[in-house]
Amino acid sequence: MNTETVKIDENNIDSRIIEKAGGIIKKGGLVAFPTETVYGLGGDALNPDSSKKIYAAKGRPSDNPLIVHIYRLEDLYKIVEEVPEKAGKIMDAFWPGPLTLIFKKKDIVPKETTGGLDTVAVRFPIHPTAMAFIEAAGGFVAAPSANLSGRPSPTLAKYVCEDLNGRVDMIIDGGNIPIGLESTIVDMTSEIPQILRPGFVSKEMLEEVIGEVGVDPTLLDVNCKDRPKAPGMRYRHYAPKADMTIVRGEGERVVAKINELGQNNKGCTVLCVREHESMYPGLNLKVVGSEKDNEEIAANLYKVLRECDDENVSVILSESFSDKGIGSAVMNRLIKAAGHKIMDV
Ligand code: TXA
Ligand code: MG
Repeated sequence: MNTETVKIDENNIDSRIIEKAGGIIKKGGLVAFPTETVYGLGGDALNPDSSKKIYAAKGRPSDNPLIVHIYRLEDLYKIVEEVPEKAGKIMDAFWPGPLTLIFKKKDIVPKETTGGLDTVAVRFPIHPTAMAFIEAAGGFVAAPSANLSGRPSPTLAKYVCEDLNGRVDMIIDGGNIPIGLESTIVDMTSEIPQILRPGFVSKEMLEEVIGEVGVDPTLLDVNCKDRPKAPGMRYRHYAPKADMTIVRGEGERVVAKINELGQNNKGCTVLCVREHESMYPGLNLKVVGSEKDNEEIAANLYKVLRECDDENVSVILSESFSDKGIGSAVMNRLIKAAGHKIMDV
């Protein structure tokens, strides 16, 4: 397949490109596009053949459901059976934005899109290019992150090209992605809504609006024997090629331990905060952001992991970062990338 790559400026959206991209989706094709979280790999959510194509292009197991993206609120009611009162409040507060909600689905949503489930995950993104594209595509775009299964989600179009060139009809290059980690997923089908994947919209932010919110127990305890409710959280995701270990603990001890490990492994790469940049003499470093700015760390994490792959890094030693606010999403992705290899000091 020949993949066309086009640039779009979100402040001056070229409607001819958007119409062309929308036409591809309506005919059953695939288009990668920017959102505020990560790049998505889009197909028509109401066409079972499009969903099958998405799984094939990503190399993703077909029991792992897709998120349906909409561009206006009224369309939600066409695809879900009921909208609980608490969901309405959360939508008022955070939609459009980096938050995915799970509802009971209507029959119009094919099982191919929901991986056989009776529920559907719905997201209403706020990125202007994404909104224009979803509208041109007919209103319902199924989109996982635009990476090959098992690789870090792409935050730049060049990473989408690396993974999906020749596998999709079009890639819309919207430049840099502001958030850099996938949306928060909240299951609204239980009385107490439950977070299935942490993201920019934190537990605290949700609780301010609706009171108690639960967290899928498998997110809190890696030894938990339950199956995660979001099927995608079962797989080893976000994995760089390198063997990666997180060193966790108080700052000075972390720096000392990484230096010690680094002496035996000069070829390793260290992921650290900017404030510690001068503390690893002789080691290869990648600064992920400032320890005072969790959002900067979130925005850079996947890029840094991809760079490690590009440079064929074989061992990564990472500092652990704050788990406050979006930090809980950062640490969730980091721990998965490390295949749960954590050294407490
Ligand atoms: O920020 C995002 O959410 C990005 C952008 C492109 O919007 N999309 C994204 O999609 O991260 P994906 O497919 O990489 O992750 C979707 C996650 C998977 O873990 C999947 O198992 C879960 O959502 N999911 C989807 N539908 C579900 C459902 N009905 N019940 C439980 N989990 C569901
Ligand atoms: Mg993904």
